[in-house]
Formats: sequence, structure tokens, C-alpha cells
Amino acid sequence: MGDNVAMSLPPGFLDELRNRLSLGQVVGRKVMWDTRKSNQGKGDLWAPCPFHQEKTASFHVDDRKGFYYCFGCHAKGDAISFVRETENVDFMEAVKILAGEAGMPMPERDPQAQQKADARTVLVDVMEQAVQYHRLQLQTGAAAEARDYLARRGLSPEAQARWEIGFAPPNGGVLEQLTGKGVDQKLVVDAGLAAESDRGSGLYNRFRDRIMFPIRDARGRAIGFGGRAMDPNHPAKYYNSPETMLFDKGRSLFNHGPAREAAGKGKPLVVSEGYMDVIALSEAGFTATVAPLGTAITEDQLRLLWRMAPEPIIALDGDKAGLRAAMRVIDIALPLLEAGQSLRFALMPEGLDPDDLIKTQGAGAMQQLLDQAIPMVQLLWRRETEGKNFDSPERKAALDKALREKIKLIEDPSIRNHYGQAIKDMRWALFSNRKAAPARKSGGAWNPRQEAWKRDVSPAATSRNSALGSGAADQDHLREAVILATMIAAPVVAAEFGTPLEQMECRDPMHRDLQSCVLRHLGAEDLRALIVGDLGDAPLEKLFTQNHVAISPAIRRGGDAETARLCLSEEFAKLTARRGHAREIEDAVEDLSGIADEGLTYRLAQATKAVDQAGRGDDDDSAEYAVGENGALMKKDEQSAFDQLLEQIGFAKGDRRPKS
Ligand code: UTP
Ligand code: MN
Repeated sequence: MGDNVAMSLPPGFLDELRNRLSLGQVVGRKVMWDTRKSNQGKGDLWAPCPFHQEKTASFHVDDRKGFYYCFGCHAKGDAISFVRETENVDFMEAVKILAGEAGMPMPERDPQAQQKADARTVLVDVMEQAVQYHRLQLQTGAAAEARDYLARRGLSPEAQARWEIGFAPPNGGVLEQLTGKGVDQKLVVDAGLAAESDRGSGLYNRFRDRIMFPIRDARGRAIGFGGRAMDPNHPAKYYNSPETMLFDKGRSLFNHGPAREAAGKGKPLVVSEGYMDVIALSEAGFTATVAPLGTAITEDQLRLLWRMAPEPIIALDGDKAGLRAAMRVIDIALPLLEAGQSLRFALMPEGLDPDDLIKTQGAGAMQQLLDQAIPMVQLLWRRETEGKNFDSPERKAALDKALREKIKLIEDPSIRNHYGQAIKDMRWALFSNRKAAPARKSGGAWNPRQEAWKRDVSPAATSRNSALGSGAADQDHLREAVILATMIAAPVVAAEFGTPLEQMECRDPMHRDLQSCVLRHLGAEDLRALIVGDLGDAPLEKLFTQNHVAISPAIRRGGDAETARLCLSEEFAKLTARRGHAREIEDAVEDLSGIADEGLTYRLAQATKAVDQAGRGDDDDSAEYAVGENGALMKKDEQSAFDQLLEQIGFAKGDRRPKS
């Protein structure tokens, strides 16, 4: 039945539909890709077959060609047949579903559709004549200045021919030429080449005294022009064709066809801002380069880009406008992110566009910038953090809020999680170890030329341990040792601290062994002997001969119960406070990828306060613990924070025994 119905669609409709769709995306909603077998970059995708039961991945999608085939059950077809089979709809219904996704309005089934298609074909012909006319004009005497200009810009006659660059004369032009050859005036207007003058004095040529860059669609049909003025002081540097039946700016790309072909052959897909950038990049060997058409990049254009390559590189001018454009692209791209569908950003040195860069520093410099292109998540992070100070919980919370808002835009849950994780890692680098974080000049503008720009803030650059700082790690290590020794020396008291001991995260493997051994035998009075039985003499010997252990009060007092109790309370409190702080940050960042958490500011502030208070005695580790009544070893103002922490780690206020 399909083919008969298809007949009523305008010619080229199904082609266009298949071109716009990614079969990988259509199929991806119904299967789980085998990521090890698949090669996303090549559009080579494998999954367990949705048409028959299997555990292995014998279902193959060739995203470039738009076809699937199952080596198990031999199911095969394209996006339309896939939707037909999996949604159980008829051909036309499948086309409608897919057209909706591709943003293509379904043609009406009346003869008007055919007329429209015919009209377009006629306009394509008019545009083609215009391209040829302008090309010839570039060789005339009137175009001497234009030729000089192009030569100054380093475009050889061969390059000019490759790009079909032309010239629109100052007086008389394509309108006169085409109507003189019998083309209807209305068609010249419909093609966007001529317009009705405001003063009612008839038609005029839109492009006058300009260098003409033809714009072709993916299939090579001329659909518009960009016209550049040569006078640097001209108020409109470029004029572009208006929207016409052929020219849909938001859904077209300059150099689309050649770039798609080059990207298919493995060239990195680059998106630049201007026509001249595309030309310079392509001439320098970066042949998979496109540009939007005088407007900001649109969602439709991003979809077109992802049809060509999974991770296009946005190469924007190194100026404020370029950066703003990059940020806009991020906002548009976030909701659309999917596995194997992302962006990278290459930012040009300040004041240069890709054309300038290649002219002044060569293709090598460009290649280097492309190699160093950063993933979107890093640019997002930079936007929110660059030149800002986060020295207060309120400011940190504001950052969290801003990032959370952005991450919430990501619709794909898995990508959203990964963004949350990446941000979390960068947040660690920023907050946990200020020295390791990139230097931030407050208020300083973001200068991509600075080396700081390239500094690695990836998770690998800052491991959790180093983020905590070696000083903190050493102190934690001492604390673990004192806690374990005290518990072993006072086994009766140890039983009261089971919960915090269980929660203690030992860094030292020996401590970990002792910890689990103590936990295993918690409550036994002959704890020491049991440990020796399990682990031998060595660990205990090592533990008790450490200086700070030997001098710690509970050990010196031979395991006095009250001293041991106070000592353990204090040590656990400090350990929990420090690590609690770390964990608060972690938790807070986890929230970034989930629902907004208004308690964040509060919790961060509390954790910071607790760490300040509990840590105040940090340098007194060797000092003797004063054994007073009712926790006399603490300053009064520390009392409440301390109680609070004890509660957190499983103690009720007032009594220092674990809640069961
Ligand atoms: P640029 O100002 O970066 O131009 O504008 P360019 O491509 O580098 O051009 P040259 O090197 O000065 O010749 C980038 C793009 O913005 C659009 C055009 O599409 C241009 O290629 N634009 C710019 C306009 O549509 N109108 C303008 O007046 C300026
Ligand atoms: Mn330029």
C-alpha cells in the first residue's frame, strides 16, 4: 500500500524526511545500544533486536545510510518501516509521526502541494541563473574593485570559482538581466532578488555593489545569497537573501552539502560564524565546515549538525559576541543532548575569527585550537564561575542554583546525571582545595587567550584525596589511630561507639582491618586477645607504638573508662565534622542534578560552622584532655555544635551513649 500513498507526497518529501532524521535516534528510543560493539562516531550502532527475543546485539543500524538490518531475524528497513513495525501504524501515519519529529509540516493532499513543489522548482531555476549572472559580473570592469578586494583577502581566482563567488553591480543587475530574458518579474521577487520600493517606483535589485556568496542547500540547489559590501564603513556589511519559499535561514547552513560529505569521510565538523570563515577553513583543509546564515544557531540547525557528526565543534570568534553566541548555543543544545550527540567549543584568541587565525598563524594553529576544544559542560561551568568569588555559603548556593537550572534543561536522564557528576567534580576542585583551583581574578573578564582557559578542571585533575589536602588527610589518619587504640584499650566503652565506628571511613588499610576486627568483637572484654588471634601481633604493635597514640590520654590512663569515653566522643566529632563537610558538598552537588533543594544554603552554612568549631582544637592533639564534669573540656560556645554533631552520629543530647 505504501507506495501508492507515497505518490501523493510531493517529490523529494520522503528524501528530505530521511535526510533530516537520524535513524539512530528513532531506533534509540526502543533499544539499548551495545556501547562496546557500537561506534557512535561512525554511525555504526548495534543493539539487541527489538523484533525478536535475544540477549546478544545482532541488530545493526547504519545511521549514515539510514538503514537497519538484523543478522538474527533479518528484519530490515528504514526509519519509516521501523516506526510502522514498532508503533504498528500504517505508512502514512509513520510518515506523519516522523515528519512531526523532524519539524516538517505534512503537505496537504491537494493539488496545491504539487503546485508549490513546481513553484519551488521554478525558483530554483531562477536562483541558478542568478548565480551564473553574478559570477560573470565579477569578471567585468565594474567589478575591478571587488576582484582587488578578494585578492587582498587571499582568495585566488580558483578559490573564487570553487565558491562560485560573484558580484552584484551598483547599477542595473539581476532583475534587468532575468526579466530581459523573459523571466517573470514576480519570480525574481519571489526568489528574494528584487523588491518593491517603498516609494512605489517599481522594483529594485536587493543586492547592489556587493560581493555575492551563493548559498546552496544540502542537495546543492541555490537557495539564497549573502552579499558583502566592500566599503568597511558600510552600515550593513552583509545583506542576506530574505526568507523565501526556498530559503529557510533557520534550517539551512552555509556549505551544508560539501561539509556533510567531508564529515562522512571523517573530517571534524566545525561550525563557524561567517561565510568568509567557512571559506578560509575549507580552503585550509577543514572541509567539514558550516556556518549559520546571519542569525544565531537554531535548534533545527543543531539537529542538522548532529545528522552529520556526533560532536560538532563550535568555533566562535574570540570576542564578547562570540562568547555570547556560545552561551546561547549551550542553552539551545542542553535540552537536546543525547548519548553520542553533544558539542565541543573551540574559542578563538581574542579579536580573531577563524579566517584571521588561519591568515595570521596558519592551519596548524587552527588545528591546535580544534584539538583543544572543550566539552560543553566545561564551558557551562566556566560561564558560571569565571571571574567570580565563592567565599560564602550564599554565593555557593547561588552558583548551585544557577547550575541546577541549567542541568534541569537536559531531558535525557542519563546525560543529566553525567552532567551532575562532572559539575560535582569541578565543584570539588573549586571548593575543596582552593590552591588547586584555577586562579580567579575577581571581576576580571574572561580572556580566552589566557592559559587559565585551558587549565584542566576535569575530574582526573583533582582526586578526592588530594582535594582534601594532605594536612587534613594526616590529621584524619592520626584520629583513626587514636580512636582504634582507645577502643582497644577500653573495650567496655568501645561498645558504646559501635555506630560511629562503623561509619568511620578509614584511609589506612591496616586501620580498616582493625576497624572491622573491633566491630566483629564489639562488647568482648578480651578484645585485644581476639584481635591478635585474628590479625597477629603486628598491627597492634604498630598502632600502639605511634607517638600520638602513646601520649593520648585514654592510653596513658590505662584505658580509664571516663577518659576513653570523652576522648572517643571528641575524636569522632572532629572526624565527622570534617568529613561531614566534605559530604555536605557532595550531597549538595548531587542535588544539582535533581530537584531544587532550598535547604542547601542552610546545610552548607551549618557544615561549615561545625567544621570551624570542632576543628578549633585541631592543633592540640598532643595536649592532655581535661577531664571535667559534663564535657568541661569544651568551650561553652562549642557545646551546641558539638551536641548537634553527636546527635548526627547517633548520640542523644546529654547522654553520651549511642542511640540504638
Ligand atoms: P562577521 O562580522 O564575523 O563576518 O559576521 P565575517 O564572516 O567574518 O566577514 P568578514 O571576514 O568581515 O568579511 C559573521 C556572519 O554574520 C552575518 C554573516 O552571515 C556573516 O558571515 N552578518 C554579519 C550579517 O548577516 N550581516 C552583517 O552586517 C554582518
Ligand atoms: Mn572575518
